[in-house]
Amino acid sequence: MSAAFVIVGASLAGAKAAEALREEGFDGPLVLIGEESERPYERPPLSKDYLLGKAERETIYVHPRSWYAEHDVDLRLGAQVTGVDPAAHEVALADGSRAGYAKLLLATGSSPRRLPVPGADTDSVLYLRRVSDSDQIRATFQTASRIAVIGAGWIGLETAAAARAAGVDVTVLEAAELPLLRVLGREVAQVFAGLHRDHGVDLRFGVQVDRITVSGGRADGVRLADGSHVPADAVIVGIGITPNSQLAEEAGLETGNGIVTDARLRSSDPDIYAVGDVANAYHPLLGRHIRVEHWANALNQPLTAARAMLGQDAVYDLVPYFYTDQYDLGMEYAGYVEPGGYDRVVFRGDVERREFIAFWLGRDRVLAGMNVNIWDVNEAIQAIVRSGRTVDTGRLADPDVPLEEFVG
Ligand SMILES: Cc1cc2nc3c(=O)[nH]c(=O)nc-3n(C[C@H](O)[C@H](O)[C@H](O)COP(=O)(O)OP(=O)(O)OC[C@H]3O[C@@H](n4cnc5c(N)ncnc54)[C@H](O)[C@@H]3O)c2cc1C
Ligand SMILES: NC(=O)c1ccc[n+]([C@@H]2O[C@H](COP(=O)([O-])OP(=O)(O)OC[C@H]3O[C@@H](n4cnc5c(N)ncnc54)[C@H](O)[C@@H]3O)[C@@H](O)[C@H]2O)c1
Repeated sequence: MSAAFVIVGASLAGAKAAEALREEGFDGPLVLIGEESERPYERPPLSKDYLLGKAERETIYVHPRSWYAEHDVDLRLGAQVTGVDPAAHEVALADGSRAGYAKLLLATGSSPRRLPVPGADTDSVLYLRRVSDSDQIRATFQTASRIAVIGAGWIGLETAAAARAAGVDVTVLEAAELPLLRVLGREVAQVFAGLHRDHGVDLRFGVQVDRITVSGGRADGVRLADGSHVPADAVIVGIGITPNSQLAEEAGLETGNGIVTDARLRSSDPDIYAVGDVANAYHPLLGRHIRVEHWANALNQPLTAARAMLGQDAVYDLVPYFYTDQYDLGMEYAGYVEPGGYDRVVFRGDVERREFIAFWLGRDRVLAGMNVNIWDVNEAIQAIVRSGRTVDTGRLADPDVPLEEFVG
């Protein structure tokens, strides 16, 4: 059997795994295979500073170009893995070659869900996942005077904010009653609705997209099920993602909402691991499997996987974390709440001015917290979530009570 460690997926999680393997002392052959032609880069700037034209291309990459050769990482770009053979310990590539592995890490991430309506395959219906998508959307902002955004999730809202900054009129079309409703619940979703309204975005909730209307081969608007028409020079779609778990499925690994792993990030095959957007990992703190579609997870899981691949004791149990920047609102969120899986939200601070912390509670325990335009408190929020203690909600709401009191 080959002594090589092979990583499939050369994005944030894949590149951090290569780094962690070298830092943890792995000195065997290390192959990092990615189907994109770019070396590994981070995606958050693609809907924020890079899209706004405030960040240079060079700032998005995970490592400098020279890093891979310096660390003896065999980086194969523009190379798609088409199959995994667990019995032979080999992966097959689209060019017909094969690569043997002793341990395999799947960091294949996720892909945007496509909008399943007539007209959606037209040019100028745009998705945002890759840097080339961000380039195309930024170019569109230069020529379009109005756009329609389908989906008021993270992609939809961050793109709407960037479009407004570029002076483009925006209509957001969302199936649910509020933006980000499944993740944040009604109380905090309203804050984001207010934010976008205040910046001139036309928000339409509870709508059903019937078709993309097209003229001259280009999208010119969106027809809704109620018969109304939203004219637009371009349409941007952000209606969620699906994990890229086909390779694992076809190889006979346990899958279901991604690749199912244990807390060491090991799949049902003892020599195959998974990290990042594609991993549905058992989380000891939450006592269940979760698949996290956020940057911090792709950044941090690889160290655990690398250690486990090297036979060390390692468990991934960090409190889930993510952030967003939209207009003048910056926030961080720590914790995990299932849709509707909380009893109440406690606010501390000034919600009107959008300077506050929101806590989601279940049976008087803090399940998650979000600091909005208040900084240097997220570590304390994570500690509160981790402690799992019951809290006095009156004191939790009082900005004069130090957060450390709730950690115990
Ligand atoms: C525009 C945008 C903005 C975001 N902003 C934020 C943010 O502000 N905060 C936050 O917390 N999260 C954010 N996210 C989410 C975050 O970027 C993802 O969670 C993260 O990229 C996941 O990393 P990953 O390496 O697991 O997967 P991915 O980034 O999806 O990378 C997987 C890589 O594997 C490659 N691949 C897949 N299959 C194969 C194959 N068969 N062979 C070879 N290569 C393959 C893919 O081409 C891709 O390059 C954002 C995402 C996007 C798209
Ligand atoms: N700041 C961040 O953390 C950040 C930023 C950008 C992207 N991301 C990640 O990128 C991925 C993709 O983001 P996203 O915004 O596409 O997904 P999402 O899951 O955040 O939001 C999708 C939204 O689209 C709506 N929707 C679904 N089908 C629809 C339809 N047919 N018509 C109208 N609305 C519809 C949903 O109700 C939901 O509000 C996610 O994994 C997300 O976590 C994260």
